[in-house]
Parts: sequence; structure tokens; C-alpha cells
Amino acid sequence: MAATPAESDNTTQQTLCEVIYRLARAAEYREEDTYSHLHRMSHGVAELARAMGMEPDFVERLSCAAPFHDIGKVGIPDRILLKPTKLVDWEWEVMKQHTTLGKRILEGSDLPVLRMGETIAYTHHERWDGMGYPRGLQGSEIPVEGQIVSLVDVFDNLSSRRPYRDACSLDEAFEAIREGSGSQFSTEMVEVFLGIRDRIIQIKEQFEECGESIFLQMVGRLHIVSHPTILESEPEFDDQETKRISPA
Ligand SMILES: [Fe+2]
Ligand SMILES: [Fe+2]
Repeated sequence: MAATPAESDNTTQQTLCEVIYRLARAAEYREEDTYSHLHRMSHGVAELARAMGMEPDFVERLSCAAPFHDIGKVGIPDRILLKPTKLVDWEWEVMKQHTTLGKRILEGSDLPVLRMGETIAYTHHERWDGMGYPRGLQGSEIPVEGQIVSLVDVFDNLSSRRPYRDACSLDEAFEAIREGSGSQFSTEMVEVFLGIRDRIIQIKEQFEECGESIFLQMVGRLHIVSHPTILESEPEFDDQETKRISPA
């Protein structure tokens, strides 16, 4: 039996999201913990956007496009990206270029989700006070999708272990976000984020060390990002299937 137009649209959307995820995964393959980070980003930005009252279409697109935020890292040399110690000034300048590289990789598309991905890649390191990069945008000059990804990314990075440091506790990570209110992030967005603390912790716990199969099953049920009950209805996964693949 032929697919209905709605089924066909849904399949196209699922295909697109899987391709996006796999490209983003390829870009971050050299770094540790990127699979679970991408999953948490996808869910975390959806939660925050929904709590901010964004339309379901926006929430779904954002959830799908967020894994692209660091795609520009594909152009950053290993000796900088994987350096186990603090970057010196010139290395930091190279690292910052992942924003403009990401924009260049994604620009020129007619697909709304890729256009949003381009915006996110370009603006996810801007700061509310204008001290971010690459352009030093200030306040509402920063597209809201870039602001949302920035906040959720900072929280997830702080609360995750890195080769050069241990993870902050969740309390410390929430406190760091609170301290960034009005400087790194908008006051309103921080307030909303702190108001969904329990949901963010739930995402953190659920996607702590998950593998790719969880995300791929998730994009097969994309509609769930518009419904806050997703986490209660996640199925059980086979341990072998969800084991993280170590970079070679
Ligand atoms: Fe980044
Ligand atoms: Fe990230």
C-alpha cells in the first residue's frame, strides 16, 4: 500500500534527522563522550525551548539541528582539538574558528533545519554581554536558537568529564548557569532553565553513557520532542547495542 502524504513527510523528516545526526557524529568522532553529549543536547534544547513557550515546529527543528553545533570542529587539527592541557592563545584562536567553519559547511541550504543548523553553528559561542565569539553579538542580536544551544551546551560540558578535568557536580553546574545570568545568558532564559531543573537532571541521567542506537530510535519517533512525556516512555535497550564505540 502506498504511503500517505503525512507518512511520506514523516519518513523524509526521519531520514533527514538521521543524516544530520550521522554527520554531526562524524564531526565529533575524535572527541570523547560525543554520542551521549549529542543525545543530551537534542533533548535538553527541546525541553528548554518548550518551557520557553516555543511552537512545536520550532522545538522539533531545534532538537534535530542542535547536534550540528560543533560540526565545524571537523576542520580543527587533532593537536589542538585533542590537546589534553589548556590551549595557548594562538591555539584558542584556531579553536574558535569552528564556529565560522560550521557556518561555511552548512550555508546555502533551502532546508529550514539546515538553515537553523547554520545559525546554531555560527552563534552558539556568543554571549549576552557581547563578550562571546565570533562576532561579539549582544543581547537579542543573538538568534534565540543560538542562545538556547549555548546554555544547554555549557551546562552539559560543565557537568561532564573531560580529558583535562573532572565533571562538576550537577549543583555546581546549575550554580554556574545562575552566575551567568545577565552576562553569559539572558536572565529570562536562565530563570526558565532553572525552573526545569528536574527534567534536565532526568535527561542527564537517562543519556549518561548511551550509544547511537538510542538516538536513532529516537529520531524514528520524532514527534515525541513535542510531548513532555517522552522520557517516561523510553523503551529498554540492549546493553550490547548501547555500549559506546571507542574512537580508534
Ligand atoms: Fe562549539
Ligand atoms: Fe557541545
